[in-house]
Order: sequence, then structure tokens, then C-alpha cells
Amino acid sequence: MDKQRLLAIAKRFGTPSFVFDESALAARMLAIKEIVGGSVHLCYSIKANPFLIPAMRTLCELLEVCSPGELEICEALHVDPGTVLFSGVNKTEEDIDRAMDAGVTRFTAESPLHVELLHAAAKARGRVYPVLLRLTAGSQFGMDESDLLSFIRRREEYPFLDFAGIHYFSGTQRAKLDKDQRRELVMLAGLIDRLKTEYGFICRKIEYGPGLYFPYFAHEDHTDTLAPIRELAPDLKELAKKCELTIEMGRFFASACGTYLTAVADTKTNKGTNYAILDGGMHHVNYLGGMMGMRVPVIDHLPGPAHGDETEADWALCGSLCTTADVLVRQIPLAGLARGDVLAFRSIGAYSVTEGPALFLSRNMPRIILANDEGERLVRDTIHASAINQPNIK
Ligand SMILES: Cc1ncc(COP(=O)(O)O)c(C=O)c1O
Repeated sequence: MDKQRLLAIAKRFGTPSFVFDESALAARMLAIKEIVGGSVHLCYSIKANPFLIPAMRTLCELLEVCSPGELEICEALHVDPGTVLFSGVNKTEEDIDRAMDAGVTRFTAESPLHVELLHAAAKARGRVYPVLLRLTAGSQFGMDESDLLSFIRRREEYPFLDFAGIHYFSGTQRAKLDKDQRRELVMLAGLIDRLKTEYGFICRKIEYGPGLYFPYFAHEDHTDTLAPIRELAPDLKELAKKCELTIEMGRFFASACGTYLTAVADTKTNKGTNYAILDGGMHHVNYLGGMMGMRVPVIDHLPGPAHGDETEADWALCGSLCTTADVLVRQIPLAGLARGDVLAFRSIGAYSVTEGPALFLSRNMPRIILANDEGERLVRDTIHASAINQPNIK
């Protein structure tokens, strides 16, 4: 989205606000589909940004939903429950009932308890539900391989569950394909073979989260942000020959489509350092790996009415929160920065919008704007955190 349009959006809707460009998102998703080909399916992890669901439900086969709250969002948006994969490390009996009542048919099991709860709920409904057994990568997520193999061996004890295959996700922002993703794909291929030869079990589906890397910072190479999927595609296609393969991602799909608009509220020079105080801050902005403002994200400077001459100076960009932690950028050269200028933080389409500590210090939450080739629409107005951060005493 060009700078002129962003400035017009900042003027029309105000700051701080997030703008998510659905047209850019669609173009990226179509490019990814083209790269991986028809044998590799796409699943969007809505944790990355639930505001993209309206666009993503037409761009992906599946939506990964991992909390009751995320399911409520899908219900409110009338998402087809048949496209939901209900995952999550803490599934209660109520959560499972609620999801099944809502029409969800696909589940992951991350523990022996999940298998038992899913089986009981399926039995109560008298129907068979497909379940992916999530294999742990060595954290609290998923189940141990020994548990997984035990369920496969004893699968006849669970007549109301169809163990359709394996779910595997080990981490995000992983740039070393040889060290991480390729090894994991080889491991999964080996597991499929072992399940067949040792357990007579045909693994029909693999849902795999490759956690591909997206560059956020100015010093990184942004020339081809699709390179990781292009490089991994042959390996994915190879695995897809063995069973139905779905890749589940958030960051890699969504990062590029988002921009955060925040205006300069004040400027000052303290002990030789130029500070710009922004009307947003760390409660909205979180670039993974940002190292407390040491790494500089890609930022466009949009001049406001008081914009100064083009003299360049180094600035520390700080947010509105009364904490020394609220430094978005420790040092960035900007020309003529003045009160009323708008800074557009790029590639912020994933996570920041829900991941920031939005309630800290009771500042208002940002507006959310969806944009496409036809125009822009406000899809969430600002929310007063003060209404949430107070005891209910009359
Ligand atoms: C199970 C699962 N799948 C997918 C994702 C999305 O990861 P990414 O945003 O790196 O694609 C996550 C992120 O935490 C996850 O836990």
C-alpha cells in the first residue's frame, strides 16, 4: 500500500490504527498456492490475526482454531465449521462439546486426556470424528511419541475416533530449512513408513507447521519474502506423495499485509537524545526478535502539516506508556520529523494486533481497518481499556 493512501487512511480514521490489506494478502496467498501446487493444502492459524478471517476463509482450506474464544470469533463471522481444525493444548470437556455442537468435525489431540475426552464426546453423539494426534517436538505441546504409538496400536479401543494422521509444529521464525524443516519432513516421512510397517496403520493426513521465516527489520533482505516456501516446496511435494499434506501457518502468510499507523504526539531533546513520543506504543507493537527497539523495523515516514525541513537527525521512537520499556526504536535517522507526522510500521500483519499488552496503562486500543482494491472499512473502533481495568464497584 503506498504512502499516500496510508496517510489518507490515517487522516480519515485517526491513529493509532492497524490497516490490513486484504488484496495484498490474497496476492500472497495465491502466490504461495501456486508455489506449493495442488497437492499441498493451506491452513491459516487464526492466532496470527483473527481480523484476517473474512479474507482467509476463501484463501485457505482450513482455519486452525486453538481456544474457545477463537471459536467464538469464527462463529460470530459465520465461518463454515467444517473448515475449522480445533486444536489447543488445553481442551476441556466443555470446549469439546461446544465445538462439536457448533458443527466442528476436525480435532487435534495433544494428550492422552484429549483422546479420552474426544472419544467420550464423539460416542455421546454416536458419530465418528477424525482426529489428528499431535506429536510433541519437546515442549508442553503435543504428546510423546510413545503415547501416540500406543493410541495407534490400540486404535480399535476408540471406535468413535478416526485417527486420520499426525499434527506437528515445532516453532516459528525458523530460517534454517536444512536444520529444521527438511529434517522434520524426513522424520514425518519415516514415521508414516513405520506406522505402516510396524502397526499396519495408514496415515492419511499430515498437518505440518513449518514456521517459515519472515523478515521484519530494515537490515534484512526483503527482495523475495516468498523464497523460503519456494525452497521448501519440493520437499513438501515429496511428502504429499505419501499422504494428504496440509501446511499450517500464521506469520508467513499474514505479516506482509499489515501496517501500523501511529502519529508523533510530542518531540523533545533530553540530554542530547531526540525523542519522538508516539500516540501508539509497545502495547500494540511487537515484532518478534525486535530486542527492545534495538532492531529497526521497516518504517515509512508520512509527513504531517508541521513537517520540518529535510534535515536528518537520529530519533528514539517511544510510545505513550509510562514505562521505560516503551521504546519502539532506539535509534533511527529521520528527516524533518515533527509533531503530527505519521509513522507507518510495515509488515505487522501477524500477531501484534492481539499479542501486545493492550491493557497495560489503560490507554485506548487501536482501531482496525480492512482495506482492499475497493476502499477501506473500519472493522473495529477504538476500545477504552479503562473500562476493562477497573473494579466493578458502584
Ligand atoms: C500449532 C501451531 N500451528 C501454527 C502456528 C503458527 O506459527 P507461525 O505463525 O510461525 O506460522 C503456531 C504458532 O504458535 C502453532 O502453535
